[in-house]
Amino acid sequence: MTEVIARGLEGVNVTATKLCRIDGQKGELIYAGYNIFDLAEHSTFEETAFLLWNLRLPTRDELEQLKADLRRERPLSDLNARVQREIVGKIRPMRALEISVIIAGALDPKSSDLSQEQLKKTAALLTARMPTVLAQYHRLRQGLDPVPPRDDLGHAANFLWMLKGEEPNELEARVFDVAMILHAEHEMNASTFSALVTASTLSDMYSAIASAIGTLKGPLHGGANEAVYRTLEAIGTEENIPRYVDDLLARGERVMGIGHRVYKTTDPRAIILEQLGHKLAATSPDRKYFDLSLKLRDYLAKKLEGKPLYPNVDFFSASVYKMLGIPSDLYTPIFAMSRIAGWTAHLLEQYADNRLVRPNALYEGADPRPYVPLEQR
Ligand SMILES: CC(C)(COP(=O)(O)OP(=O)(O)OC[C@H]1O[C@@H](n2cnc3c(N)ncnc32)[C@H](O)[C@@H]1OP(=O)(O)O)[C@@H](O)C(=O)NCCC(=O)NCCS
Repeated sequence: MTEVIARGLEGVNVTATKLCRIDGQKGELIYAGYNIFDLAEHSTFEETAFLLWNLRLPTRDELEQLKADLRRERPLSDLNARVQREIVGKIRPMRALEISVIIAGALDPKSSDLSQEQLKKTAALLTARMPTVLAQYHRLRQGLDPVPPRDDLGHAANFLWMLKGEEPNELEARVFDVAMILHAEHEMNASTFSALVTASTLSDMYSAIASAIGTLKGPLHGGANEAVYRTLEAIGTEENIPRYVDDLLARGERVMGIGHRVYKTTDPRAIILEQLGHKLAATSPDRKYFDLSLKLRDYLAKKLEGKPLYPNVDFFSASVYKMLGIPSDLYTPIFAMSRIAGWTAHLLEQYADNRLVRPNALYEGADPRPYVPLEQR
């Protein structure tokens, strides 16, 4: 048994993958050989999901087939729709998403079929359902009727339609599509690892995804985008930036949306989100959040100079989502609804070549001692 403790598993390769490569020094992110800048410019979320599940881009027919499969799986089961009405307003949307994944698994008679063919169907089902769960949840909590999905809209545009009951314009639909591509995959990370640990026991894909959602929720991972929004709200205006940041750092706290375990330069996804933010800001009534993010970024660059702390994906996603009219408590669930493509892709790899994940812990507790009966303690 090794005496070394790899705290936070930093620097430990837990598996091999063909899905994603990150160069944290150069700020490079590659999905199955394709640079994230190329995917953001040319691809769609549906095509990126196909790429992750098959390690190659689809033909036209394959893409049409996937889109049809996703459209077919959009509606919620009756049980899930009823549960949504029960829980709405009582629990947060991330939990509603977790529950919906568990319900979908409970209702799937093939949930324990771990063949690649069946797993790809499950991956598509979960990818299609999550936007409906979140949109319906948001409608119901406002006392509004759910908006049924529209077959003539793509995955990203249909979500915005179901959420707001208004068709997004071309720019809004494209920005959200690209934001989903940027969040679709990110090599090994806490939530992906969590999914793999669950799958490694040969538990099913639904339970693995429920584990991943629970792990993504924390503010050091996916929860950071909502935390960035709260930071922007707390700062309010540009003049307050120095005092807010200086006080926060003096208390030893962290600025949300800054820093990354792997990137020691600006996260390429933050660069793309900033570009998208400029486009939305031109006409958005909520541009003040984006403008404040830019000023905050500039102040932090001076304040943290010399430290490898730069904006990560969450830094600009908060103001971009705000400008798309999305409520802040949906930011992290939307991360999950995008990352489902990558999580399920990693699960396809794990099930195809599984080994139980079972690490060790170094014991530093009491030496062996006699058991003392209750009445003598
Ligand atoms: C992402 C994150 C958890 C990575 O943490 P990590 O790799 O474990 O890095 P560490 O916690 O070891 O931090 C290294 C140093 O940078 C500092 N640091 C890291 N992130 C910081 C932040 N956001 N604000 C201020 N200081 C930060 C730490 O305080 C530590 O300083 P020290 O060496 O003087 O003690 C961390 O950067 C963070 O908490 N960021 C804010 C939350 C966030 O945006 N998460 C989303 C990630 S995509």
